Amino acid sequence: MNYRHSFHAGNFADLVKHALLLRLLAERQAAGPVVVFDTHAGAGLYDLTGDAARSKEAEAGVARLMAAEGGLPPAIRALADQVAALNPGGGVRFYPGSPLLTARALRRGDAYRGFELRDEVKALLDEALADFPNATAQGGDGYDGLIPAMGGVTNALVLIDPPYERGDDYHRAADAATAARRADPAAVVAIWTPLKDLETFDGFLRRLAPAGPALVAEARLRPLTNPMKMNGCAMVVLGASSAIEAAANEVCGWVATTLGDAGAKAEVWRA
Ligand SMILES: C[S@@+](CC[C@H](N)C(=O)[O-])C[C@H]1O[C@@H](n2cnc3c(N)ncnc32)[C@H](O)[C@@H]1O
Repeated sequence: MNYRHSFHAGNFADLVKHALLLRLLAERQAAGPVVVFDTHAGAGLYDLTGDAARSKEAEAGVARLMAAEGGLPPAIRALADQVAALNPGGGVRFYPGSPLLTARALRRGDAYRGFELRDEVKALLDEALADFPNATAQGGDGYDGLIPAMGGVTNALVLIDPPYERGDDYHRAADAATAARRADPAAVVAIWTPLKDLETFDGFLRRLAPAGPALVAEARLRPLTNPMKMNGCAMVVLGASSAIEAAANEVCGWVATTLGDAGAKAEVWRA
């Protein structure tokens, strides 16, 4: 397994995922204490002067967000505020992953449980969460750990965010989401996927169909003509309200318009 999220941290796809995650979390919190499950947690905090500086993905993503002047839609502004809080001296050196972003937003009674397969990444994750007693990391496979961890929990928010470097990640992500909704039909489940070609994405949505209706929030940076490239990304949400649909339109619209090439577009629809 070669995937290192540190190369991709703060890219356009992280902006879509994290802006919507914050919005989903705020909505669940309004319903009472929430438990967030993050099946693929990553390191929690990224120093963008490392791998990300070599890939230049953050430069084309969060750096442009933080340089944007005014007019940000509220769901994107909420993420920008979190990034600014981590960089009190200005600039964009540090970028939060889903664990830290969530941990910082937890309220009394809320909890975060992240799973991370790689030992060296899990060690970084433990460090990132050290100041947050309600946020814990568990080593091992997040697909396998999810359902046992959800036992007895009400008001669950699940993020499934695999690297998709293994051929079975699409199937395992869809099956884990379906199992989570079976275990708790009231759980809100968000699955992040890259958009390379439509055939792969369509196969994923078909595999997910037994889980019930889904909100599909796509941000396409360019037409999906080169399947070797990440041409866009999607957050697929089970249990999304109309307020989340509105936020998804804001987020995907801003990302496609501001960060996309010619032919970029946002599409938010119900499957
Ligand atoms: C896309 S990154 C996660 C990014 C993170 N969710 C965020 O938004 O900041 C995927 C992470 O999942 C880890 N991983 C891969 N397969 C896994 C599995 N089966 N269970 C748990 N973690 C896994 C990888 O080591 C990597 O750190």
